Amino acid sequence: MKKHLISVRDLTEEDVLDLYDLFKQFKTGKKERLEGDVFLLFLESSTRTRLSFERACRLLGLQTYHAGAGESSIEKGESFSDTIKTLKALGFKALVFRVPFVFFPYEDLLKEEISLINAGDGTHQHPTQGLIDLFTAMEYYPSIEGLKIVYVGDILHSRVFRSGAYLFNLFGAQLGVCGPRTLIPKDLSPFGVIKVFDNVEEAIEWSDLVIWLRLQEERFKESYIPSKESYFLQFGLTKDRYAKLKGYFMHPGPVNVWVDIDGEVLYGDKSLVLKQVENGLYVRMAVLYWALKDG
Ligand code: CP
Repeated sequence: MKKHLISVRDLTEEDVLDLYDLFKQFKTGKKERLEGDVFLLFLESSTRTRLSFERACRLLGLQTYHAGAGESSIEKGESFSDTIKTLKALGFKALVFRVPFVFFPYEDLLKEEISLINAGDGTHQHPTQGLIDLFTAMEYYPSIEGLKIVYVGDILHSRVFRSGAYLFNLFGAQLGVCGPRTLIPKDLSPFGVIKVFDNVEEAIEWSDLVIWLRLQEERFKESYIPSKESYFLQFGLTKDRYAKLKGYFMHPGPVNVWVDIDGEVLYGDKSLVLKQVENGLYVRMAVLYWALKDG
């Protein structure tokens, strides 16, 4: 039976450690070859996730096929479930999908002999980005146990936060969030958040690692902030705040420069932004290999 990666909540600590081991092996040159065809269905735009999945497939010997928005029969009303059955009938081994809706598969769908790998579904999950953020933190900090991590920005719409929070909790981190109250979920109990900051200076003072998130304006149903300028002044990573960081900062990308982060500090010594991108390739190799090696 092939494996799926739909939500990080389906991963045990042992699964994550197996994936971390594979990630490190691929990063240090492990060569493995798999056979088969992978369909990359990206109904939302992407640069780093799509290209790193595509490169990861090719480095593993897997053939890739791609369709973007408007390029599949989903536009003609075909359901996502029927699309999966169609791909299976065509002989695909895996579907990597990025979609604007939350994906809750029927149990029967998971029994299809095709691996389903989530590359971001609505505001729900982005499992490989969560793994990237965890593994990058594991590389740069001696331990995740007790590490104080604050997510800053648009927590409400963030599948990156929903994925990372679960994984960081699994390894004993302490989590905080900071942002406009309009962009923080009312109920934070499912995410193990122990601190909510209205003031980003206090969040920086408390934390060992800060993860800035993008304002996801494409998902805004109302006006959550007065202006991008006021948001940057209140919550963005300015030069002054950069100087006060005790450790590193991350951002999953794409970065809205001068809204999330000052362009002059984006790639400074305390930035792990490009390390996250680099690690994305090896995380996706690890996930594809883990999912498909026994298939
Ligand atoms: N972090 C992330 O998902 O980036 P892309 O939208 O470019 O894939």
